Amino acid sequence: MRYTEGSAVIEQGKAFINPKAKFSRDATIAYAMLYPRIENALDATSATGIRGIRYAKELNLKNVTFLEINGSAYPYLESNIKTNKIKRFSAHNMSVQEFCNISQQEKFDMIDIDPFGSPAPYIYDSLKVSHDGTIMAFTATDTAVLCGAHNQACIRTYGAVPMHNELGHEAGTRILIGFVATLAAQFNYGISVGIAFSYLHYMRAIIRLEHGNKRAMDSLRKMGFAYKCGKCGWIGYNIGMFPTKNCCDVCGSKLEISGRMWLGDLIEGDVRPKLGESITSVQGADAKEIKFAERIASEPNTPFYYSIPKLTKLMGLPSVSELSVIEGLLGKNYKASLTHFEKNCVKTDAPLEEIKSLISSLSKGRF
Ligand SMILES: C[S@@+](CC[C@H](N)C(=O)[O-])C[C@H]1O[C@@H](n2cnc3c(N)ncnc32)[C@H](O)[C@@H]1O
Repeated sequence: MRYTEGSAVIEQGKAFINPKAKFSRDATIAYAMLYPRIENALDATSATGIRGIRYAKELNLKNVTFLEINGSAYPYLESNIKTNKIKRFSAHNMSVQEFCNISQQEKFDMIDIDPFGSPAPYIYDSLKVSHDGTIMAFTATDTAVLCGAHNQACIRTYGAVPMHNELGHEAGTRILIGFVATLAAQFNYGISVGIAFSYLHYMRAIIRLEHGNKRAMDSLRKMGFAYKCGKCGWIGYNIGMFPTKNCCDVCGSKLEISGRMWLGDLIEGDVRPKLGESITSVQGADAKEIKFAERIASEPNTPFYYSIPKLTKLMGLPSVSELSVIEGLLGKNYKASLTHFEKNCVKTDAPLEEIKSLISSLSKGRF
């Protein structure tokens, strides 16, 4: 099968390609375009090589290294590099782990890890070929694990307890980032999250490494635990090495607890106003992608969100529109927006009582 995306024309052959991951590639290019200092990249799990090829051409890189462990896929990677006329590259039929251990003197400005399932087994070795400022972009398709359908697998893979409710996609994304922040700290790197999101069948985070003990500790101080009360709907979180609550602050019921996870920002302040424009300039980005990127960029950095249908159900009230809740909260000077993580949910810094009182007024037609 021949597949064209952005600047790349790809022959799939026996290598894997998923056209549904186009947004992951486009968003990475959109983010990287904001960092013109990127000169080289490692496409650590290449398959057809589409990422490295697009990064080479669309970011005008000086050099790209392609890795692919699978001997049946590798010839197609080589041939795609050639037909796309990539001049400055190296390609190896080798695992990321092996390459990073024998090439520790090589350092990359950008590293893309896009495996089948979890990126967890690839992160530690990739940190050996990183430097201060390296952009690490990684995908997780083990979303059932990260969203709590397989609690013990999440504990085993990421060392964290997931949330198995409507907060699962954001909690999973934060667990994934927290896992990377913890490993990065072992190499004296702190992290700054460029953009992180959950889309279709995968979660994706693009982070920047910042070297130094202090940076590493600053990142670890953004880790902690999230809480959800199934009885009254309260959600909360605490920063720290240990959970500090068992019972709900509002109604005293037993809480669902998840973590440890990253509780810092999911989008960099500088990136937020530029992301929409940047993705618009990515070759082949479509209207749906631009809209999605703009939505990510418009969400407040407040962790988690309230499901409005769940709250109205708990309150025994008829449903109200999320948009009216948002409008009401904005009118009271709170931050409020829909979230891409889950349908019908509102991300806000308003306390639960305020949201419930607004829902009551809206359902009685008093707002
Ligand atoms: C999901 S595919 C990559 C898709 C590609 N990045 C894209 O955007 O179309 C994952 C690829 O990683 C390869 N892979 C798995 N483990 C690897 C490892 N340890 N080192 C290098 N490549 C690996 C697989 O053979 C597979 O081709």
